Amino acid sequence: PLTVAFHGPNQAGITTPQPFSCLVASFDLLVEKRDELATLLKDLTGLLRLLAEGGDLPQDDPRLPPSDNGLLGTHRINPERLTATVALGASAFDERFGLAPLRPRQLVEMTAFPNDALDDTLCHGDLLIQFCAETPEEVIHALRLVLKATPDRLAIKWKQEGFAATHGARSGPLGTGRNLLGFKDGTANADVANAALMNDYVWVRPGAEEPAWTAGGSYQVVRLIRNYVEFWDRTPLGEQQRIFGRDKTEGAPLGHSKEFDPPNYAADPGGDKVPLSSHIRLANPRTPRETARLIRRGYNYSNGVTKSGQLDMGLLFVSFQSDLERGFLSTQTRLNGEPLEEYIKPFGGGYFFALPGVASANAALGESLF
Ligand code: HEM
Repeated sequence: PLTVAFHGPNQAGITTPQPFSCLVASFDLLVEKRDELATLLKDLTGLLRLLAEGGDLPQDDPRLPPSDNGLLGTHRINPERLTATVALGASAFDERFGLAPLRPRQLVEMTAFPNDALDDTLCHGDLLIQFCAETPEEVIHALRLVLKATPDRLAIKWKQEGFAATHGARSGPLGTGRNLLGFKDGTANADVANAALMNDYVWVRPGAEEPAWTAGGSYQVVRLIRNYVEFWDRTPLGEQQRIFGRDKTEGAPLGHSKEFDPPNYAADPGGDKVPLSSHIRLANPRTPRETARLIRRGYNYSNGVTKSGQLDMGLLFVSFQSDLERGFLSTQTRLNGEPLEEYIKPFGGGYFFALPGVASANAALGESLF
């Protein structure tokens, strides 16, 4: 089995490498009391630990429904880099559980940006689980075991599956993955191997202006963003490249020749090379004051056909940040009105807080919260 460490100061699935498949599922909490929520998180910890580390799901009584759904063939769980990352939405901190004073300071319900057309049935949620693994059936296997274990405690609200690394750290012999607009995606992502940088960009630090329990957690943003791919495929190459600010084949910033050449905006103040309105220049102006302090960990998605006969595909955008404002919010605000908006439509997602890690075999998710 290929395992990603389950225990640690932070949850896996954030700065760990991106495997091939992802499934993000959002739930309403059906539990009503604070101690019931704590027990739910504890029970989830046990199941998610087993899924991540591998082991047996024994069948005690053959007259009962099978303990495992069988998607992976046996009762013996052989993970292939499965991670399950649990986060809470702002609504988990409402009056129900008495947790309002402990709400992460910046955690609010996501509101619409100018180009958004949010479908409320695909937004928000009390609890989010992000499953990642090497195969699509493994993330479905994990989701179904969670649903089977918690029918009276969690109600699934929406889900989205994604495939093959786009925005993230995945890079192998094939190099940086491409998104469904055909561009390399993830090139300029902050380096997840740089622990000092992750402490700044991703993890809430002890002593931050946050409730103490949040240390080791991270704000998680999910955005379901449709791409108008038919329209894009009829757009000239030069325009596509100016929209992103990178060349399509190599992925280099315009005016440079190599993918990882850093753009030099100081030497290009008028945007003759990398247009001022390009996606990369707006997203990350690379000045001390205006820097995108986040990591992107998105996937491509492909769902079906819209009622008007267009392909429903795009980006399952996921980002993690220690500070929602300095991370996603300021970055997205700079992107508002970008030329790329003609080709994309955000329609779902939400803001969540990924819980601190599970320290050891005796510890549970959310322990510091209760
Ligand atoms: C960079 C695509 C949405 C933030 C890029 C790049 C591409 C891309 C192709 C250049 C390669 C790279 O450095 O990864 C897209 C597409 C989107 C989308 C197709 C929507 C469908 C977003 C959103 C955000 C964002 C919602 C955050 C609010 C960034 C950042 C960079 C980037 C920070 C790096 C810029 C740099 O440091 O040079 N994106 N992106 N993107 N994107 Fe996006």
